[in-house]
Amino acid sequence: MKIRLIGALVTVAVLILLVFSIPLATFVAQVERERLVTALERDAFVLAGHAKETLNTTAGSVLPSLQPYVDSYSKSSDARIVVTNASGLVVASSDPTIAFGRDFSNRLEVAGALKGLPAVGERDSATLGERLLFVAVPVLLGDTVLGVVRFSNPKSVVDEEVQRHVKGIAVAGLITLLAAALVAIPLALTIARPIGRLRASTERLADGDFSVQADDTKGPPEVRELSRSFNAMAGRIGLMLESQQQFSGAVSHQLRTPLTALRLRLDQAQDAVGDDMSPVAIALEASRVEIDRLQEMIEQLLALSRLEGGSAATVTVNASAIVRSRIAVWDSLAAERQITLKVLGLETAPCVALEGALEQIVDNYIDNALTAAPDNSTITVEVHRVQRHIHVDVIDEGPGLSEEKRALAFERFWRGATTENAPGTGLGLAIVRQLAVASGGVAELLPRADGNSGLVARISLLAR
Ligand SMILES: Nc1ncnc2c1ncn2[C@@H]1O[C@H](COP(=O)(O)OP(=O)(O)O)[C@@H](O)[C@H]1O
Ligand SMILES: [Mg+2]
Repeated sequence: MKIRLIGALVTVAVLILLVFSIPLATFVAQVERERLVTALERDAFVLAGHAKETLNTTAGSVLPSLQPYVDSYSKSSDARIVVTNASGLVVASSDPTIAFGRDFSNRLEVAGALKGLPAVGERDSATLGERLLFVAVPVLLGDTVLGVVRFSNPKSVVDEEVQRHVKGIAVAGLITLLAAALVAIPLALTIARPIGRLRASTERLADGDFSVQADDTKGPPEVRELSRSFNAMAGRIGLMLESQQQFSGAVSHQLRTPLTALRLRLDQAQDAVGDDMSPVAIALEASRVEIDRLQEMIEQLLALSRLEGGSAATVTVNASAIVRSRIAVWDSLAAERQITLKVLGLETAPCVALEGALEQIVDNYIDNALTAAPDNSTITVEVHRVQRHIHVDVIDEGPGLSEEKRALAFERFWRGATTENAPGTGLGLAIVRQLAVASGGVAELLPRADGNSGLVARISLLAR
């Protein structure tokens, strides 16, 4: 979070820097290039002024008096200087390798200047084997061209100068960036810290702690505002849940007493009627079954509302041992229908769960599997470790459930069409899911991996 915020701030700084620096660098490069050319031009014109006198009086002959000028200009401007007479023959040069009298009239810029036109530009030099930046100006007396002064610099020298300036901008940019990073880090920390605390509060709320309060006294005003809203929200959710639980708890509790009384009366009535097959006896027996179901439903609703009440402490349990002990309990009921209960997988499987939760989950899964399974079939309970989790799978050979129904099955009171007439309340899997969540695990229904008909009811708990 902090790192990301710092990254974002620095990225913004880099972007701003690029947006400003690239045009600035291009502009500076252009100005610098023009400045260098103008300086060459100025020197060339000044030297042309000196050359005018000498070339005028002694046109064609080599004049020693021009050489000191050429040398001093060449030194101050770093340029190669060539002065020619009106026929384009060299009369002075800063380069000792250029012989006096050498014909320069074939150089384009010299030819142009000989016609009275100053020239500025770039061209590849065959003699030097590199690109030249040149300035050639005519030495004029009135309209007469007396000769040409040419200043030239290898382009690489000019580019180096330009690059030096651009580098200066880059260094300034880097320093700015460093400064931005130095500002970004404390800034990011002041924003990230209170947001991090707020996130911790949200996580506690998600874990079911509705008493959580975010600190609304620290951080930027927006975050404090957010913390206040969060506190108000957590408080309201807490109150709502509490009153809802109290209500459903109270309802279930209040229903228990009259139901127990009703059950007692029914028993007495059945005793009075005796166990004959009269319509009254049959009706009484049917009522008793319904009352039993209602009672079971109320017990389960009570259990659900207790579970939603909050987070109880988890313990480490051995899934394999629990599975074996529950199977021992269900075995005789299964045997009545020639259904085999089989255990596969790990001998010990320590994992995290709410105390007593895994027993209830396995009971519900086996109960459902027995309802769905045909006679003479096998129900297999497998205990596996998959990465950091222990999986307990209850696998039957019944009709299974479609993908859509597998998702619905965990809803309260949802019952499949095939089990509608079997005893049950439609609350079993809803309780399983609550128990799983409270244990930090996941309950899910899956199709059989081998493609056979049947269902895999899985509880996955954190391994210890
Ligand atoms: N192993 C299973 N095979 C087929 N259907 C199942 C299986 N387990 C659960 N179901 C379906 O899911 C429904 C909901 O299950 P549950 O919540 O335990 O309620 P109940 O068992 O009281 O009907 C069941 O009514 C049944 O239709
Ligand atoms: Mg059930």
